[in-house]
Amino acid sequence: MKARVAVLPGDGIGPEVIEAALPVLGAGHSLVTIEAGAERYLATGELLTEADMEAISESDALLMGAVGDPRVPDGILERGIVIRLRQELDLYVNLRPFRELGLLFVRENTEGPYSGEGGRDGDRAIEVNVNTRRSVERCLRYAFEVAQARSARLTLVHKTNVLVHAGALWREITDELAAEFPGVPVGYEHADAAAYHLVTEPGRFDVIVTDNLFGDLLSDLAAGLGGGLGRAASANLHPDPITRPTRCLGLFEPVHGTAPDIAGRGLADPSAAITAAHMLLDALSQEPATT
Ligand code: IPM
Ligand code: MG
Repeated sequence: MKARVAVLPGDGIGPEVIEAALPVLGAGHSLVTIEAGAERYLATGELLTEADMEAISESDALLMGAVGDPRVPDGILERGIVIRLRQELDLYVNLRPFRELGLLFVRENTEGPYSGEGGRDGDRAIEVNVNTRRSVERCLRYAFEVAQARSARLTLVHKTNVLVHAGALWREITDELAAEFPGVPVGYEHADAAAYHLVTEPGRFDVIVTDNLFGDLLSDLAAGLGGGLGRAASANLHPDPITRPTRCLGLFEPVHGTAPDIAGRGLADPSAAITAAHMLLDALSQEPATT
């Protein structure tokens, strides 16, 4: 299949790991490079331009290195590029496989404390943890489908003993879906206990489904257990072609950041970017054929 792939190398070690990953895509695809990142932001103040958004929206998928730079205040590149792409392309599932551990994370990818709602009023700072039935349900449904396809156990990870409002919604929808997927064994762990058990007994988990922030934290922990951050890759997906807002089915990226301390020295491990490129090809090949 000949696909249109947008490539956003980004900052730090991003360009070198992406260069190593491009041969995986093979010949025959048309590639378009997106120059977003710290250098352009520092030179022009631009994060994602309209032309960038158009090129990405008209691509089948986006392969990305990493963005972030010590010269740019925290959050500008992350929110202005990565989180914006996840939200605008509505990439509601963040899939993070850890093959060494036989573990797959299904992380909700558009809401939770990443919603962007909140603000600062002097000494009071509020970060709103948004959870809507629509986003929670579609993420959970995807997790149930994946668990069913793999004959795997599904563990919901949350913090229902403290985050009682969000927690109740996640549990309620999990229970509803459990009735629809009677073949999938379902468990629950609080996020702190799951962190402990990931270290002491990772074999107890197959598929973990969780919210955006817990998924962020626990997937780095899993990367530390299973081969290091240099190896972990992720797929940010809008799996359903019917509801997908643009042509782009997903953003594929290493879990690691830009590692500016080793950038340009030939020290970066490109394994994660290479795995991300394989995940991109896999996702493209699973798309229903269009005529
Ligand atoms: C990740 C990263 C991002 C996140 C950052 C770069 C916004 O840590 O993909 O895990 O927090 O989701
Ligand atoms: Mg992270």
